Order: sequence, then structure tokens, then C-alpha cells
Amino acid sequence: LSVWAIVVAAGSGSRFGRPKQFESLGGTTILQRSIDVASRACDDVVVVLPAGEGGVTGGATRSDSVRNGLAAVPHDAEIVVVHDAARPLVTPALFKAVIDAVRAGADAAVPGVAVSDTIKRIDGERVLETLDRAELVAVQTPQAFRLDALRRAHASGGDATDDAALVEAAGGSVVVVPGEATNIKITTPDDLRVAEALLS
Ligand code: C5P
Repeated sequence: LSVWAIVVAAGSGSRFGRPKQFESLGGTTILQRSIDVASRACDDVVVVLPAGEGGVTGGATRSDSVRNGLAAVPHDAEIVVVHDAARPLVTPALFKAVIDAVRAGADAAVPGVAVSDTIKRIDGERVLETLDRAELVAVQTPQAFRLDALRRAHASGGDATDDAALVEAAGGSVVVVPGEATNIKITTPDDLRVAEALLS
């Protein structure tokens, strides 16, 4: 039974200032690094790109882009792993950890890292409450899913900042595995400089 990856790279880079997936990083590009790791860890990879860039064309939101990618995954696949191209420092070991957790019985598995900042809920500039960070994790990609669980979660056309949220909303079981501190998400030009430093 096969494991497919969907690498989503169809964002416009609004916070970066331009489409960041094509920026160079350590002799290649952000996108190519993510594709290379996904290819090493999975049997096949679907790449979701902005219109006109080849691959599968993305949608207006990240969830729409994942749905377009899902349409290209064969129905007999066992597991699908969704990865943000914007996390190019991911390792094959992290892909393996989430895949193994789904093989062990969960509908979905996500990498999470402890939160070191104190997190407050706010309304404008007013603080409403301080959350207990011992109960919180910051969640990354790659996120692995039983294919049928992800398809069901996306069937309603919902929108969320990650796919596990849709599986949670559909009543599926989601587990957390230890994430990687170096698996940063490149959102701003500063993040790209941090990634370059981590590679050097
Ligand atoms: O927007 P956000 O930072 O959450 O994007 C995470 C990942 O999803 C990025 O790799 C981005 O290229 C991708 N994305 C997409 N289609 C969109 C928006 C984001 O593939 N419409």
C-alpha cells in the first residue's frame, strides 16, 4: 500500500513580498528542498503550484490547494502526507514519524513542539486571558492521514490553517509526535536568513 505526499506551494507569499517557494536556499530552492525530502520519504509526490507553473494548480486558500492535490492521489493509496513547501528544512525522519503514527492506528498525525513563549488571547490590544502553555503545542507539517479520513474531512469544502483541524472537526483521531525545532516555516525574509544560517 502506497504513501503519497502532497507538497503545497501555491501561496502568493503576501507576507514575504513575493512567491517565496522559488527563492534559493543552500544551492537549490525552498520548493525543491521540500520536494526532495518528500520524495525520499514517500512513494510518490503531488506538487501544488500557482497557476501557470506546472504541477497541480492551487486554489484560493491553502485548504483549496490541498483539495486540488488530493484529487490527483489514487484511491488505492493508504496514507497521504501533506507538507507545506514553506518548511524546507524538514527531514525524512519526521515524515517517517507521522507515517508510522498513522500506521499505528490514528486517522492523522501531526508534529508538535512545546511553546516557549507565553501565549495570551487578545481582543484588539486588550488581553482577555493567559493560556496555560503546558497544554499547548505549535504544530508543523508534514501531517500524515489515512487517505479516506482526509478525503472525508475535506469533503465539506471547509477552510482551516492546517488539515488536521478539518479531521478534528469531522470527529477523527489526531495524535501529536515530537516535531523538529529546525523545521521552521519561512514566512518573512528574516526566516529565510535563519534557514540559511541553520544550513551553514
Ligand atoms: O499561507 P500559509 O503560510 O499557511 O501557507 C502554507 C503553505 O501553503 C505554503 O507552502 C503555501 O505555498 C501553501 N499555500 C497554497 N495555496 C494557497 C495558500 C498557501 O498552496 N492558496
